[in-house]
Formats: sequence, structure tokens, C-alpha cells
Amino acid sequence: MSAEKTPVENLSEEEAAAELAFLAAEIARNDELYHGHDAPEISDAEYDALKRRNDAIEKRFPQLVRADSPSIRVGAAPLPTFAPITHSRPMLSLDNTFSDEDVRDFVNSVYRFLGRLPDGSIAFTAEPKIDGLSMSIRYELGRLVNAATRGDGTTGENVTENIKTIKQIPNRLPDGVPDVVEVRGEVYMTKSDFLALNEKMAAESKQTYVNPRNTAAGSLRQLDPKVTASRNLKFFAYAWGEMSEMPADTQMGMVEKFKEWGFPVNPLMKRLNAVEDIIAHYKDIGLKRPDLDYEIDGVVYKVDQLDLQARLGFRSRSPRWATAHKFPAEQAFTHVEKIDIQVGRTGALTPVARLTPVTVGGVVVTNATLHNEDYIKGIGNSGERIREEEHDIRVGDTVIVQRAGDVIPQVLDVVMEKRPADAVPYEFPKKCPVCGSHAVRERNEKTGKLDSVTRCTGGFVCRAQAVEHLKHFVSRAAFDIEGLGAKQIDFFFESDDPALQVRTAADIFTLKKRQEASPLTKLENIEGFGRVSVRKLFDAIDERRSIALHRLIYALGIRHVGETTAKLLARAYGTYESFESAMKSAADFSGEAWHDLNAIEGIGEVVARAIIEFFKEPRNIEVIDRLLAEVTPQAAEQLAASSSPVAGKTVVFTGSLEKFTRDEAKARAESLGAKVAGSVSKKTDYVVAGPGAGSKLDKARELGVAVMDEDEWLAFIGG
Ligand code: IVH
Repeated sequence: MSAEKTPVENLSEEEAAAELAFLAAEIARNDELYHGHDAPEISDAEYDALKRRNDAIEKRFPQLVRADSPSIRVGAAPLPTFAPITHSRPMLSLDNTFSDEDVRDFVNSVYRFLGRLPDGSIAFTAEPKIDGLSMSIRYELGRLVNAATRGDGTTGENVTENIKTIKQIPNRLPDGVPDVVEVRGEVYMTKSDFLALNEKMAAESKQTYVNPRNTAAGSLRQLDPKVTASRNLKFFAYAWGEMSEMPADTQMGMVEKFKEWGFPVNPLMKRLNAVEDIIAHYKDIGLKRPDLDYEIDGVVYKVDQLDLQARLGFRSRSPRWATAHKFPAEQAFTHVEKIDIQVGRTGALTPVARLTPVTVGGVVVTNATLHNEDYIKGIGNSGERIREEEHDIRVGDTVIVQRAGDVIPQVLDVVMEKRPADAVPYEFPKKCPVCGSHAVRERNEKTGKLDSVTRCTGGFVCRAQAVEHLKHFVSRAAFDIEGLGAKQIDFFFESDDPALQVRTAADIFTLKKRQEASPLTKLENIEGFGRVSVRKLFDAIDERRSIALHRLIYALGIRHVGETTAKLLARAYGTYESFESAMKSAADFSGEAWHDLNAIEGIGEVVARAIIEFFKEPRNIEVIDRLLAEVTPQAAEQLAASSSPVAGKTVVFTGSLEKFTRDEAKARAESLGAKVAGSVSKKTDYVVAGPGAGSKLDKARELGVAVMDEDEWLAFIGG
């Protein structure tokens, strides 16, 4: 994201001021989502990137620092439901470091600040950064008197009653402790408790939680302490607030005291001097991360000696004597428990790694696609190496997984040191695991190379292909039948009852009639379907008896024919009849019809061949004929009236739209003759940006493309 932004050094003062205003609002919004509602919309890495950008701009334009600058604020204001508690000492945050180089800089800065002590003479502690929520717990004369969340750093929420339900936090401290003790640390939920809770929620058809941290926060911000008690929250002590007396003079010593007093402390904390040892410990903790039953997002380094900490002091919101070394963005280590093969609509055998659940960028990941046979071996689509030799993916391996945006998680690499001695190379199946037909890799006619995809040759015989076909048929850009999703398709497909069974698309449209004719097996008596939902389902099905031609073409599931190609075909042929008859006349890949097909702008030979092959298969024609007895495709919409100001223009929508869905906006623009693109380039005419627009908006500004908001866009196209 940041890569496409204007470099800070190239920003004009005006642009900088505008961006700082945007960043202040955006960061505040995300703080509120994260702290106030436990519902983050962006990953920690994306959030950190926003903060870094803000800091960099402020550094260059100090005169532009805003009163509401995110660099002055910490976290979000407290929720109003709990009484406020003003912290005796502010609860600060930590500076972040992201690379080994940053860590060396941090250590050097400590040495520099303290005035050239001999190299290696300063000890640092290094401990996991727990991804939970920080808490300050106050004891007077050994009794727990109150507990507060961090809140905005100055004032937090009084959650005393809830904290008292956490078994790991003592209500009383042993004799001899200082009169006033404020222990600070992290409340968290274990990964296993989180997964168990989510399983329970799912079983009860309740909304599941996003990640352990937000679940812990939600469990704590309960007005009813019984709910908190039921959640088995845990605690690690690592810092302190007010102390009437200091029981130790080092960070390590303090933590040892906490342990003596009955608080859990993290066993991976170490005291180290050499910076390379510190970095090595970071790597070691990173390797242990998948095996820990709690989420961590980095390693915290602190100057060990408290007198040195005092000399180093604080910047506006973080200590100079500590830093958090974050783990790389959206990556995590986990184990490959098993490799399954999924058979898709076109028969492609896709290997999927079943992973020990791990949160990556705030989302629990349990599966990652392994794409194909070559990918497992470490070979890319063009035959290039994508991982080092021997780094093939095996069951039992510890792997690095990455999640970028909304894409399916990927396995990036294998940690060879952790490969079990008995791990064997994965053997790719030679037969379809669903129907047992041969699975083959086709040879590309042009290049002579083996295709990377292994395909089941079973076609209609293969249940997996048939059921995936149906799921595609009802999907959003195809028939989009409400109430008929993947789960329902599985059910109808598996049914052996003639009054319930759906094996091909036409069966969906005959379901109601078959139900009416069969009083014995009523859908409404089957679990998961009530009277109302059945009626709604049949209404939704009936609504699709008339369907736009491009949706029908897309729904057929022809290889290589996506939404865009389907639209091109619909526009070119106008009606289903002329489309089908043209495709049949091109069966020998020559002649006028073949020529016309290839002449359509945007359709290449591979796609053209796939379409013709599809219509040469009598089974396909049979299925379509049965379908057309039930549904009527509409003639394709003619190209837009050229009177529209957007006809022939290229438009990009970005950010969230509030007046209509993305699909609607796109359809509307296209109906006016505009081309809707996914990315901004020199060819883009307009960018319509809603709230939260990011890199595309930046790019548009950079290229000088006209930008408008949703209302301006509506006015522009005439409401
Ligand atoms: S030390 C003055 N140690 O990270 C700094 N913080 O970004 C005191 N955190 O607010 C914090 N694990 O919620 C410290 N081992 C650890 C930590 C830790 C997690 C959190 C804490 C803090 C935030 C700072």
C-alpha cells in the first residue's frame, strides 16, 4: 500500500496537511474499532503503516502537527459503561521496530543517550509481546482494590469486578509487599480456549469471534462478571505503575518479585547484552510462536537496570528504554497437519494444506492453498524456483504462512530445521480422489510444456465437478439465488429422494413442482429449512426464471469464461439462440463463426477453444436444453446511450460505497457505457472514492486523474 504513495519528501505542504487530516481521522476510526468495539477492520501491519506514514510526514512538517494528531494520542477514549479510573502513572505504549537494523539502531541510541558506556555493558531484557489487552491492577496493603484498562493511557475503565474473576490474578498478595503495588500486564485468552469458544458459538449458530485478543477484550468489557468468569482469561505480569517502595532494581528483578507474589510471568523472558544475542532470541521466540498457546506479535526489549531506565526517560508517549520488535506483517509459523485434495468445477485437483490454526493479521487461518503439484515442490508456473531446493512442502512441516488482504492464505516457505525426520515428500495423486478417474496434467500444445494443473478426466461422472458446477451456477455473479448457497447445494445434491434431489441446474427450477407432488418428503420438515424459508427459497428461484444473458453464459461454467468474457459474448451475440448456434457452427475451429468469435475484442484463442469444446459435448447441450425449458434468458442490453457523459470512459471505484453495493455501482456505470476497471492507470478517466479509499486514491492523485465522491458521481451520471 505504502509503496504506491507519494514519497514523503515529494509532498507539498498542502498535500501533507490534507494527508495528516486524513490520517488523524482514519487512525482515530481504527482505534475506535479496535479498542472501543473489538472489531478491527485492518490488520496490525496496515495500522502500523498508517502510523508510520503519519510520523514521517509530521517529522518533515513539524508545523503541521495537529491537535488531534495520532502521535499524541494513545488508544481510544474509554467506553462510557464503566466508571473511569485515572492512572496514577500514565500507561504508555511502545515504539515499534521492524528489522534487525532497527534493533541495532535502538541499542545504539540507548548507548548514545547514556553517553558511551562500554559496548556490551548494558543488559536488556527480551520477552514476548503478548497480544492481549493491558491492565493495571492496584493493591493497597496487599488487597486488590481496583483494576483498570489502559483506555487512552491517562484514564482507563474500572473493570475491577471482572478482573477478580480471573483465577491467575491474586486477590491478596503475600505479607511483606509494599503498601501500594500496581502490577501491570496483559490479560489474554489462550488460542485453545478461543477455538473452543468459537466452536461452541458456531454450534449454537451464534456469531463467532475474530481473534483471541478481541474475544478477551469483549469478555472483559462485560457488565456481568459471570460472563468474564466463564471465559477463563489469563494474565502475564511484566510492568508496574505506582509502587510505594521498589522491591528490586532491575526489570528482571521486578518480574521475579511478581512471580514470587503469585502472578504468572512469561517463561521466555531473557536478559541479554549483545545485540546479536537479542536478535537471536527474537528469532527463537518467532520459531516457538506456533507452539505457544497464546498470541504474540513481537518481542519487547527493555533496558534492564531501572536507574538507566530513569535516566533514559520518555518521549511523548513511549519510553526511550524499550521497544517492540514486531514480527513481519501478516505472516505466521504453523504446522502442516495434512494435505487434502479439492476437486473443482473444472476438475482441477487443488492441494490444500490443513494447518494448525494460527492467527495471521488478526484472522484465524486453518487452510492454505498449495495450488498444484509443482508449487508443493517449490516450482512456479513458468518452471522457475519459488523456494530453495529441498524446501518442498511435506505433512509435518513447520511452515511460514502469509495472508495478504483478502486473498487465500499462502504457504511461503518451510522451516527446514523443524522438519521431522520421518517427513516424506508429498505424492500427488494420479487419480481423482472423488470419482477415481485418471487425473492428468495436460500438455500445452504451443509450448509443449506440462500444464501445472492436474485435472480429473471424469467430467460429469465426477460428483465433485458436478456439485461445484452447481455452486458456481447459483453464485452471486451467476443466478444469485438467495437462500441457495453452498451448504444447501450440498444437501440437495447428496439427497437420494426424487422430491429433493438436485443434480443439474434445471433440477433447481423443478424442485417446487416435485415438492408439491410429494406430500411425504416436505422440505419444510427438514432441519435447517422452516416454512418461511422454504417459501422464500421458492420465490427466489422463481424470480430467476428470467435471467440476463450474460449471467446465464457465466453460469454455464465454461472454462476460462468469467464475468467479463460472459458480458462480451452476450453483447456480441445478443440472444442465447444465436450464441449457441454460432458456437456449434464453429465446431471445426474454422470458418466464419470461428473467425467472428476470435474477432471479439478481449477474447483470445485459448478462451475461444474452450467455448467451442464446451458446446461440442452433448451432455452440456442436454443440460442446457433442460435448463432452457425452465428459464428464459433476456436479450443482452445494448451498449449505453452515447449521451451519457461516462459512455466510453474508464471508471474505478474504491473505498466503501454507502449508497449502493460495489456490484450495483459497477452495473450502473456499465449500463451507461462506462468501462469499470479494478486498478488506476493513465487510462483511467474517473476515480470514485468512498471512505477508506487508499492506494488507488493516492495513485489517482499522483496521475492527476479526476476524483469524485459518491454524491458527485451520482450527480455526474444524472442521479
Ligand atoms: S511493556 C511503558 N511488555 O504492548 C511500556 N508491553 O505497544 C510498558 N505489551 O500497552 C509496556 N506485551 O499492552 C510491555 N511484554 C510486554 C508486553 C507489552 C504486550 C503491550 C502492552 C502495551 C503495548 C505497547
